[in-house]
Amino acid sequence: MKTIRDFDLNEKKVLIRVDFNVPIKDGIITDDTRIKESLKTINYAIEHNAKVILLSHLGRIKEESDKIKNTLKPVSVRLSELLNKKVIFIPNTRGIELENAINNMNNGDVLLIENTRFEDLPDKKESKNDLELGKYWASLGDLYINDAFGTAHRAHASNVGIASNLESGVGFLIEKELNNLLPAINNPQKPFTVILGGAKVSDKIGVIENLVNIADYILIGGGMAFTFLKASNVEIGSSLLDEENIDFCKKILKEYSNKIILPIDIVTDKKECFITDITKEEKGLDIGSKTVKLFKQYLENSKTIIWNGPVGMFEEEKYSKGTKGICEILKNIEAVKIAGGGDTASAIKNFGYQNIFTHISTGGGASLELLEGKILPGIDVIK
Ligand code: 3PG
Repeated sequence: MKTIRDFDLNEKKVLIRVDFNVPIKDGIITDDTRIKESLKTINYAIEHNAKVILLSHLGRIKEESDKIKNTLKPVSVRLSELLNKKVIFIPNTRGIELENAINNMNNGDVLLIENTRFEDLPDKKESKNDLELGKYWASLGDLYINDAFGTAHRAHASNVGIASNLESGVGFLIEKELNNLLPAINNPQKPFTVILGGAKVSDKIGVIENLVNIADYILIGGGMAFTFLKASNVEIGSSLLDEENIDFCKKILKEYSNKIILPIDIVTDKKECFITDITKEEKGLDIGSKTVKLFKQYLENSKTIIWNGPVGMFEEEKYSKGTKGICEILKNIEAVKIAGGGDTASAIKNFGYQNIFTHISTGGGASLELLEGKILPGIDVIK
């Protein structure tokens, strides 16, 4: 697969698809990791004398009013601070103003086009990979670099559409993500342990089905653990239950009883107790301290660890001990340690453990789909 290093960028108009889908509250970016992670590619293009034209989506655009809160304007301001240089922001996704601005660029300039998903109104041109839109955006540049790992599981006009119409390669972020994630999934050093959490079993079915064959152990926490506990005939009170997937959990527990490790105690809204002591009114919101110790036994000998999904409602201090406990265990383990998923990454960062990981993926859905063994269309098109 070609990377940005394989091209002569000198004086070229280089379209770079980045994933600037960052959380913004009241106009303020609350986590700029994704912007920072794309700097290497952007700076490389600047240093190699390219005219850098950036495209990204932000949020989902279903009606006109979504446009106001999902403009990329605040991102252009933050990007300009991080690059320490002017970023030309064009508040349109096509048209004469954009075309003129591109034609007037000097080598080394950076220009950011407005949110590509503004093209989703009226008829989802971006999200449905409208052929004309992909061709139009491709016509604006000489070369296309996809560095939007977080969006690589989508086949949209701004990734698959452009790449189908222009010479293309990937940027440093996609390269880094693949170099870390693929060997861990396809050729893990053993023992290989997976920690899965998050609310719903339905989000993780594909991952469990794929990794249960590869991993030695899958440790299950978070809201999804309660559906597994229910499937093993434990009463879970009023904890989260994914009724439709009880049968799936039963099947997995039956076939892989030695690989699936469930919590033995939990923290409810009233107390910490063994899973058998939860009452009808109680709701489980975190794994208990005995479970943290149990998980430690599996983790401390592991050579590869992949973690996707917090094991409790970490946003609330009183239910954060399980997720913090896992971070603390991982801190003292020498292994390939990979975390993925938006919530997991933000928990790790909030608790200050980002430096103990081999890799923290910038992808939520994209990293999950890789763990499911799926091909990512945004990257496949470049091969
Ligand atoms: C993400 O945040 O997972 C990516 O930016 C993709 O966003 P999407 O789920 O809205 O397509």
